[in-house]
Amino acid sequence: MTAQLRSPPADAELQLTEADFARIARIAKAGWGLSLDSAKRPLIRSRLGRRLKALNLASFDPYCEIIESGDTVECDHFITALTTNVTHFYREAHHFELLESEVLPGLIARARKGQRVRLWSAGCSSGQEPYSLAGSILALAKDAASLDLRILATDVDPTVLVTAEGGRYEAQSCVFPSPALEARLFNKPSTPPEAFRTIRPELQPLIAFRRLNLMQPWPFSGRFDVILCRNVAIYFDKPTQTRLWTRFSEALNDGGSLLIGHSERITAPAEHALEAVGITAYRKTGLLPTTAPR
Ligand SMILES: C[S@@+](CC[C@H](N)C(=O)[O-])C[C@H]1O[C@@H](n2cnc3c(N)ncnc32)[C@H](O)[C@@H]1O
Repeated sequence: MTAQLRSPPADAELQLTEADFARIARIAKAGWGLSLDSAKRPLIRSRLGRRLKALNLASFDPYCEIIESGDTVECDHFITALTTNVTHFYREAHHFELLESEVLPGLIARARKGQRVRLWSAGCSSGQEPYSLAGSILALAKDAASLDLRILATDVDPTVLVTAEGGRYEAQSCVFPSPALEARLFNKPSTPPEAFRTIRPELQPLIAFRRLNLMQPWPFSGRFDVILCRNVAIYFDKPTQTRLWTRFSEALNDGGSLLIGHSERITAPAEHALEAVGITAYRKTGLLPTTAPR
């Protein structure tokens, strides 16, 4: 009898052995760069346990075989189960202050001269980061949508992108550092307040949401003026982070900005091409050594 034909065990009986966990961690690292530490074992047992139940599988072995076979539907469930999508509007607000005072005015001036300006929210989760960025841009330039100035917002998890594209959020999750920032993104709540709020429609044309696994080749021809990749690389190990910083610095225009999460640090060799200009904020000033890992 194969594992698939046995009846699935009750939740409490489902075993995620050390070998199962090591196999899942290997798959997550090889495919998506995710570094799973053993503290996450109970969480992974519970989240993937639901998938075993849905597929009527009795153990993790056949489940891993499905993922290793590249089954696209189940790989989507797998990545949704493994990613952490916590985010909020104007998170790490000092980055938006820096952008509004030092970076965006110059980029808007360039766009008004007819030049192309591109910003990238890499690991955008459910969209709060790119919508905050669009709010900063529109606060400085009401005409932004008529310029060649756009935000690319990407994530590997298909479920968060559905929310991001819809721009519809649970009202209680719409928390802002100030009412002025809130008013950039949402109209005043109705009375009585509704359970969900929808992003102001003028923000959406500035953003293109796309699915992208940062570990794979990036299908872009042009470079970016600003890249935000915040609270994403913390889920990768150091060599994977180092390669990512190198790739970001190559994807930036000279003088372009890279903003990373509060607990992340740029390391060599990318640090030779990126000058620190604020808290976890960098500007591209030079070229990378040709020996940098890619
Ligand atoms: C904690 S959220 C950060 C969201 C936002 N940048 C912020 O700082 O609020 C991390 C996001 O990174 C995404 N992510 C993880 N691994 C990824 C990968 N290999 N490629 C692209 N996105 C990835 C996750 O799906 C998740 O939505």
